[in-house]
Amino acid sequence: MGETMKGLHRTARCAEFTKEDIGKEVTVMGWVQKSRNKGGLIFTDVRDRSGILQVVFEEEKCGKEVFEKAATLRSEYCVAVVGLLRSRGTDANEKIATGAIEVEAKQLRILSESAVPPFQIEDEINTREELRLQYRYLDLRRSPLQRNIMLRHKLCIAVRNYMDEQGFLEIETPTFIKSTPEGARDYLVPSRVHQGEFYALPQSPQLLKQLLMCSGFDRYFQLARCYRDEDLRADRQPEFTQIDMELSFADVDDVIAVNEGLIKRIWKEVLGVDIQTPIERMTWQVAMDKYGSDKPDLRFDLPITDISDVVKDCGFSVFADTVKDGGFVRAIRVPGEGHMPRKKIDALVEVAKYYGGKGLAYLCVNCADDGSHKCSFAKFMKEEELEAIIKACGAEKGDLIVIAADKFTRVCQVMGQVRLELGRSLDLIDKNAWRFLWVTEFPLLEWSDEEGRFMAMHHPFTMPMEEDWQYIDSDPGRVRAKAYDIVLNGTELGGGSVRIHRADIQKKMLEVLGFTPEMAQSQFGFLLEAFKYGVPPHAGLAYGLDRVAMWMAGAESIRDVMAFPKVKDASDLMMGAPSVVDEKQLRDLAIKVDHDAINKKDI
Ligand code: AMO
Ligand code: AMP
Repeated sequence: MGETMKGLHRTARCAEFTKEDIGKEVTVMGWVQKSRNKGGLIFTDVRDRSGILQVVFEEEKCGKEVFEKAATLRSEYCVAVVGLLRSRGTDANEKIATGAIEVEAKQLRILSESAVPPFQIEDEINTREELRLQYRYLDLRRSPLQRNIMLRHKLCIAVRNYMDEQGFLEIETPTFIKSTPEGARDYLVPSRVHQGEFYALPQSPQLLKQLLMCSGFDRYFQLARCYRDEDLRADRQPEFTQIDMELSFADVDDVIAVNEGLIKRIWKEVLGVDIQTPIERMTWQVAMDKYGSDKPDLRFDLPITDISDVVKDCGFSVFADTVKDGGFVRAIRVPGEGHMPRKKIDALVEVAKYYGGKGLAYLCVNCADDGSHKCSFAKFMKEEELEAIIKACGAEKGDLIVIAADKFTRVCQVMGQVRLELGRSLDLIDKNAWRFLWVTEFPLLEWSDEEGRFMAMHHPFTMPMEEDWQYIDSDPGRVRAKAYDIVLNGTELGGGSVRIHRADIQKKMLEVLGFTPEMAQSQFGFLLEAFKYGVPPHAGLAYGLDRVAMWMAGAESIRDVMAFPKVKDASDLMMGAPSVVDEKQLRDLAIKVDHDAINKKDI
């Protein structure tokens, strides 16, 4: 049973008191971090979201009754203390912000007692995450998580202020919508009124924000909740938040300008860090060729060199045949690493193989005892062929060159990952850097072997580049899009594009994507209809807000910046969701669960 706080008003949060308050009577409220009984004295650390303040109970000062009550205090009791704020004098604790002051208690109310918590509420704990997530409300009492959640709040406020100043209107869009075709699987909500029919939770407000442009709102933004049923990773959750925006009468440069301002502003306001603008831009083609990724980590160098031309007629058939078959041979020169131990080189080969490569050839320039090259494919090569590779890579004595040969996508992925592994294992990554990059001119389409057709690389409403549109029939894969991603330290923070606002281009695009006119009409007829009534040219972008917060907080997982995240299998361990529901609820919805199918899956 707890006491009430009737008649008491909290003066301030625990760590908001300073030496200025010495001599004042104060009321603090919070949780008992720990309480130590030293005979005639009880020291109690009271904690709230601001930090910790020491309270001292002395029997002569607070009286027997209060002292005895204080003796019953245990971790996580929620308490109110009235007392005199005083100096700790020579007893100051340098480690905490309020270490020079303490409260000499006069009154104590136990607002509520606490059972023994399943884990201690401390900054550093090694309790397994499942248990912490089950008791998320307790885990959230820990100061690293409190800091993250407060940082996220600050970030949201900074975004709102900036967008408002730039003339953007915050407009909410519904979360029960018709499915938007954006790649991932939809979460569906069954309708009771329209039995057998479903709403979809939005994967993003994409079409709705485009319609807001049709309505003339001109600049829209929203901190929008999005839902995607996809495989989860450290930076992916089934529901997440976007900083979503759309601008009318705008082209690529307009979107980039607004967003460089936003990035500058939020980094300054939340972290006090100055981000230099303009942010570097790189086309998708260059990013793939030079870094093997559409989100290059530029915190370190190690670019990839194409040596296809150099080796196209060489003696090593793996290289020569790859080029003949339309593939590429690509190399990374690693300066000064020619004596890398065999085990480390083997680890790189494993990385290549893990990402689907057939191997990873290597050449250690003049690193053999006799001064010749150590090389995994030397027996197939003439001396001058090896020299040509070394020259093409700009390599010198003592350097290591690693080489992969494969089809374009594969060779990019393999070399991109080998490059990242080199960056990590050679400790080349500057952990304090904020390396932003715009990746532009993405391909409009991407071939899907699985579907046997072209798919939209961004989404079907992305505007092709004018100069490439002529190839849409003859060579669709060649058409580039007015699409861009904002990349930070090798991760994709956000993406967007200029949208198609011309009916003829949209119609053609849907045709290329394999939509029959009927399918197009049934899936997004409302958008096509809207576009008949004077649609402004428009463009937009969306960031993963959680990802931005994650980087800012230096968190390892997106879960650490979300109050109530889900785990890898998309369940909520605290609430126990998803869960089975009442038969009656299902009857209302005219839904029958196929238990046979579920049992089969279990086997
Ligand atoms: P896109 O699909 O690229 O674009 O998403 C934009 C950004 O949202 C974040 N994100 C996620 N964050 C956490 N968990 C997820 N499962 C997840 N999926 C995506 C990423 C990503 O860069 N409507 C378009 C934007 C536009 O064209 O304006 C869109 O949603 O940081
Ligand atoms: P092998 O003839 O299998 O001994 O291969 C010689 C070297 O070429 C080894 O170092 C292999 O790892 C490497 N290798 C094999 N296939 C490829 C490939 N597709 N790209 C790069 N190196 C390869």
